[in-house]
Amino acid sequence: MNEPVKPAGKALWHGRFAGGPSDELMAFTESLSFDQKLWADDIAGSLAHVAGLAHAGIISDLERDLIVEALHDVAGEMAAGTFVFGAGDEDIHTAVERRVTEIAGPAGAKLHTGRSRNDQSATDVRRWMKRELAVVAGRIVDLQEVLIARAEQAEGVYLPGYTHLQRAQPVLLAHHLLAHGWALGRDVARILDALVRIDVSPLGAGALAGSSLPLDPDFVATELAFAARFENSMDAVGSRDHVAEALFALTMVAINLSRIGEEFVLWTSEEFGFATLDDGYATGSSMLPQKKNPDIAELARGKAGRAIGNLTGFLATMKGLPLSYNRDYQEDKEPLFDAVEQVTLALGAVSGMIATAKWNTERMQQAADAEVNSATDLAEWLVQRGTPFRDAHSLVGKLVRRHVAGEGSLRSLVEAEAALGPDAAALVAPGVAVQRRTTPGGAGPAAVATQMLRFKNKVHELREAVAAYVR
Ligand code: ARG
Repeated sequence: MNEPVKPAGKALWHGRFAGGPSDELMAFTESLSFDQKLWADDIAGSLAHVAGLAHAGIISDLERDLIVEALHDVAGEMAAGTFVFGAGDEDIHTAVERRVTEIAGPAGAKLHTGRSRNDQSATDVRRWMKRELAVVAGRIVDLQEVLIARAEQAEGVYLPGYTHLQRAQPVLLAHHLLAHGWALGRDVARILDALVRIDVSPLGAGALAGSSLPLDPDFVATELAFAARFENSMDAVGSRDHVAEALFALTMVAINLSRIGEEFVLWTSEEFGFATLDDGYATGSSMLPQKKNPDIAELARGKAGRAIGNLTGFLATMKGLPLSYNRDYQEDKEPLFDAVEQVTLALGAVSGMIATAKWNTERMQQAADAEVNSATDLAEWLVQRGTPFRDAHSLVGKLVRRHVAGEGSLRSLVEAEAALGPDAAALVAPGVAVQRRTTPGGAGPAAVATQMLRFKNKVHELREAVAAYVR
């Protein structure tokens, strides 16, 4: 039977309703304004569903072909930007179905057989996440490679390592950069791990309970290249923990970028003077002619707050929802899209900022060469000669106190100290302390050379694992 095309303004579900929908309802409940970006995934999902309907003998091969052709037409219109949305298009799903029905007529009206927007939108979002999160993971690996390049160029350069933002011990700049690299590696691993749980097809769950029609969820899962199908139809449409998990993984990336940003804000300040930004990655002031500001670093910091908001906001949305689908779940998309978009932008900008920054190695090394930064080495020198560490710590501490009080250079005080003397005083000389950080994973040259090899292997491994998702 030939269903008449519904005039714009009517919803696809209008049959049960004598009137409406009101403008206010449409304005408040529509998701088309933000789920349009799912169009390619929606069409892919529909192609799989239609193949499944024909496979099960629910529609004829001819009907399948007509719908498939219409779906390709819709894809063409979407890609060309010529698709005309109607006033009754609540979301991307209804828009595509409405247009398919306009093009394919009665065959098009069979597209939604055995399917609900609940399993449809869950399918679309999971497909979108698989692709886009793999892209984000790839961008993180790009940043890791920038860190590798900068660490290799920085051979031998050292700076103070800090705890409590107080100078602690000298570390190689390469070591400092790779510290961020390892954290970013865990971010990639977290995304890859989340992808395992995202890579499950909800299609065939229907509204919540499956179907009386002989649909095969395994068939459509394979068509859509999902690793598995859902095990429970209510869970398939009624869960969003995979979205929350992805939001956390993205928020952690944002937080790690924020921490890098904070360091660049410090390092590029005149007070630190450790780094100078390339002109292409710094901003000027509209009023103060002399200013060169680290706005990328600051926004990397600022946007982390927004990422946290996306995560906690969505967690609050999920809390207390009974099974299975609730319209609240429509709120999964904006935080997710925003987090992916902002983290992607931040990764590009921060990567460029780090790749082009100039290190002021003299300032770094001067700061690291402050005599007191060798205090631990002096204590450990005593330990190697039999002094209990607590006694060594106390003895060196007293010398530092006298040095700070203006009694002389630490070197001269060490030289004059019976338990230490000239051999120990040599440890206070510039550039010596960093050479002595020799333990595995430590901050000195030999340990960092080994670390670099291990880090490169790790990055290579992550690159391969990410590529497996960009099928
Ligand atoms: N746009 C909706 C969403 O994103 C589609 C689902 C609507 N389902 C419903 N039963 N009203 O969740």
